[in-house]
Amino acid sequence: MVKADITLTNAKALISGSILRCGVAVEDGRICRIAKDPNLPKASEKIDLKGRLIMPGLIDVHVHFRDQALSYKEDFRSGTMAAANGGVTSAIDMPNNDPVTMNLESLRERIKEAERKTVINLAFYSAFPERAEEINRIVRDGGAVAFKLFLTRKVGGVDPCDEDAIIEALRESGRLGVPVAVHAESIKILRERAERIGELRTINDYLRLHSPSVEEETVRRMLHLIGDMHVKVHFCHVSSAGTVKMISEARESGIPVTCEVTPYHLLISSSDLRVKGFIALSDPPARDRRIINQLWTLLRRGMIDVIASDHAPHAIEEKTGDSILDVEAGVPGLEVTLPLMLTQADKGLISLPEIASLMCKRPAEIFGLTGRGELKEGNYADMVIVDLKRRYKIDPSHFYSKAKYSPFEGWEVKGKPVKTFVNGRLVMDEGEITAKPGSGRIIRWRS
Ligand code: DOR
Ligand code: ZN
Ligand code: ZN
Repeated sequence: MVKADITLTNAKALISGSILRCGVAVEDGRICRIAKDPNLPKASEKIDLKGRLIMPGLIDVHVHFRDQALSYKEDFRSGTMAAANGGVTSAIDMPNNDPVTMNLESLRERIKEAERKTVINLAFYSAFPERAEEINRIVRDGGAVAFKLFLTRKVGGVDPCDEDAIIEALRESGRLGVPVAVHAESIKILRERAERIGELRTINDYLRLHSPSVEEETVRRMLHLIGDMHVKVHFCHVSSAGTVKMISEARESGIPVTCEVTPYHLLISSSDLRVKGFIALSDPPARDRRIINQLWTLLRRGMIDVIASDHAPHAIEEKTGDSILDVEAGVPGLEVTLPLMLTQADKGLISLPEIASLMCKRPAEIFGLTGRGELKEGNYADMVIVDLKRRYKIDPSHFYSKAKYSPFEGWEVKGKPVKTFVNGRLVMDEGEITAKPGSGRIIRWRS
């Protein structure tokens, strides 16, 4: 029998939807064998997991790593360390940066920065460029795995009010088969509402402006627009049951659409937001309990494809102020997503195989990250070891993220990522980062 680099023994593993008692052997960065301990190959290094659970590493499809001119908020070093600490082995980086990721040059600059710093696998979104002809190059030469379309404001070359430009960009993406992730709150609808609401100062004003109906109406228009375009559209951070139902119906009628929800929208209510204040503000904002319960029902029915963090770190000064106009929306999520979801699994609200589907398998399928997202012989050895019994309180002062606050501060969770492996390399061990910056990998379109 060939010798492996590492074996993980005395473990359970989440394999094709069930939890099995077995071990995993790793060779050359890939999983070479999954078998009962006595049947594993000999290895240079043997790790006794003491009965803990091996899960596929999380694939977080919605992360704002910032860096470059926004590195005071987060950079690829702090951000990917936070990811590793949270059990995330691959992430897709959002383009609303300074400079905006929106053409071959800006994407290459960004990848260069990331290559030196990352401890995990990173793939990249680009915003749409000014000319649709450039889309092809951004994907084929630059390696972007998807585009991000903000409908709330202009990010990149396409104005969200210019329907013709949007159609052209979507058609081109459809031709290439590259997914387009959409923040579905239309700037036009928001402007109309803002006029009616008047001065915007408090959280209540914000909640009235960014109502669930804004998202629903925007998604309705978007679904109508993409009708027969054959473009894969992924709706980010959905926050209304009506939205999920529309997306699900569209999918049943043959339109290739998917959607994602965040732990924030599943767990933080609008009353929590009012109590916690601006620090807990995200866009879309937290919803009423009634909507949260509906989202959970739809999640359990399999109508939501993905759970992503929407890790959106800001400096603490940007989260405080007299008026909502002075604060940034967005909260860090990389280090809390898995513990929060494991806690829900412990309560019986979701199962561990469902978590693996929502946070590993489906993200890999939707964004074409081949060889990842499942514990399978031949796949990359991206794995997170979790201690399902470990209870602790969320303490943002211990985050690797530069954003050391959280709407979940003080929450008691049960279930902790204790080791993270990226391409077979141990990158996090008991909360310590054991990998060097730059040891992670860049994932390019269909590579
Ligand atoms: O809350 C949010 N934060 N929503 C967005 O759409 C952008 C994001 C950010 O980049 O901070
Ligand atoms: Zn968004
Ligand atoms: Zn986001």
